[in-house]
Amino acid sequence: MFDKIELSYEYDDLEPYIDAETVNIHYNKHLQGYVNNLNKILKGYDNLTKGKTLEQILLNVGSFPQEIRQNIINQGGGVINHNLYFYILSPKPKLKPEGSLLYEINNTFGNIENLKIQLTNLTISQFGSGYGFLVKDMNGKLSIHKTLNQNSPISDGLTPILCIDVWEHAYYLKYKNLRADYVKNIWNVIDWGKIENLYENYII
Ligand SMILES: [Fe+2]
Repeated sequence: MFDKIELSYEYDDLEPYIDAETVNIHYNKHLQGYVNNLNKILKGYDNLTKGKTLEQILLNVGSFPQEIRQNIINQGGGVINHNLYFYILSPKPKLKPEGSLLYEINNTFGNIENLKIQLTNLTISQFGSGYGFLVKDMNGKLSIHKTLNQNSPISDGLTPILCIDVWEHAYYLKYKNLRADYVKNIWNVIDWGKIENLYENYII
């Protein structure tokens, strides 16, 4: 059985950038829905899921019957993408990365501001529902990606370490159609300390 992460903040702690009602509904209704659906789909497949992480399941979705693979990608992605999204947010974020992550950001993007601009623009440009990601490959090299629906970079063997949800449910109550304002504002509550931790320790 897979579950949603525990929030390390209250629903209203991310205000004014993300409103309390959005965090509450997003976490308790949307994310919980993906958790429930995923566990329902995987019921009866203990032989394929026992001792496996959700990352391993997404990486090896081909080991499941063909008729449930897309559903695992959709619901499993819904769980893992949201868990990452809620993990990296914080009301008291570290606003600048340090150490090996900063070194690699400077190497790849020139500086942190360039990375933020590029990822903001890429994420805003996602047509329809999806996500923007900062990912690392198996050598620690960074790149930015956008994905459609609940697709995760994990399916391509890449480790996501920063995730921006641009499904309308992530921002519509407060920002209405102004997706760009939401994405620009979310940097105020993205915690680079948590992303450093993922860069150094998260292996899919
Ligand atoms: Fe979402």
